[in-house]
Amino acid sequence: MISITEKMIKLVNKLHRNHVLSKEEFIDLMDHMDQDTLDFIRSLARNISQRYFGNKVYVRGLIEFTNYCSNDCYYCGIRKGNKEIIRYHLTKEEIMECCHRGYQLGFRTFVLQGGEDPSYTDEDLVSIIHSMKEAYSDCAITLSIGERTYDSYQRLKESGVDRFLLRHETANSVHYKKLHPRNLSLENRKRCLYDLKELGFQVGTGFMVGSPYQTTECLAEDLLFIHDLKPHMVGIGPFIPHHKTPFKDQKPGSYEQTLLLISILRIMLPNGLLPATTSLGTLVDGGREQGILSGANVVMPNLSPFNARKSYQLYDNKLHTGAEHAEGANGLRANMKAIGYDLSYERGDFKPMI
Ligand code: 5AD
Repeated sequence: MISITEKMIKLVNKLHRNHVLSKEEFIDLMDHMDQDTLDFIRSLARNISQRYFGNKVYVRGLIEFTNYCSNDCYYCGIRKGNKEIIRYHLTKEEIMECCHRGYQLGFRTFVLQGGEDPSYTDEDLVSIIHSMKEAYSDCAITLSIGERTYDSYQRLKESGVDRFLLRHETANSVHYKKLHPRNLSLENRKRCLYDLKELGFQVGTGFMVGSPYQTTECLAEDLLFIHDLKPHMVGIGPFIPHHKTPFKDQKPGSYEQTLLLISILRIMLPNGLLPATTSLGTLVDGGREQGILSGANVVMPNLSPFNARKSYQLYDNKLHTGAEHAEGANGLRANMKAIGYDLSYERGDFKPMI
């Protein structure tokens, strides 16, 4: 017996129609979620992604090229204050080696992700990007390297970068202050995101689900911010504590709430690119597959050198062997096949709605 209240059906239908709700309505939807409504909203979201993307799941090769970071975010395992990790950064040659391996495996998007590492100047990055574009002109390049100036983003764009990922982390400024040290502000984060859009990048933002001090109101504000920004990609995953951070004793985010938010995002952004993240797969075995079945359509296997992978722990027990690394592509393909999806090795650019 399916028992969804009239009120919940109305809210979901309104979200489907308008791609947005008011803050109060989003809060209502999230606060009154039950299993039947979650099943209903996930199947709607899944139908939407099927309509736009068929059974394709896009793959992106993730290269974690530096774990140095000048920031001290309270949640993150590679924060500056963590003196117990082995820091590394890759040379251009090592990055090219990762791309080579990835290209052979069929990847046509490379995501360079790292901490905010000042040792890579704009010139260094431009030189890396030129080399990548020269060797792999049919590939898209995504950067995920944090906050920079407008000028710096412009130079990176002009050097050939296609996409940029920068999660806003939380759209509530009081909450933002509880997650970050004083030198970081939501205002600057948003400035970066709007600059990136203006410069013509395909832009991704996102947030952690269940980060400490997060309320449903914060999540509603995240959704409204996303509606306003209109990003091309949104990455969300559960918060998972890391033992060398101030949040080591906080509880992880909820699995069900993460799936719910993936579905809400799919309904808001029918043609958006939404990854099923490693943190979701770390929290629950098979979590990424359930993310796909909630409307996600991207996976990002790891192409980083083997010895670097264990040093890039943003949270405890981050998966770094098995289907989430690039060489585990066969396993990943089989896992996706088992839920009726095929990996797609196309560039998978954002396509505007027609
Ligand atoms: N748990 C889950 N996600 C995390 N991130 C950083 N630390 C954690 C954590 N402890 C996420 C942030 C960041 C992205 C690269 O990883 O949202 O933007």
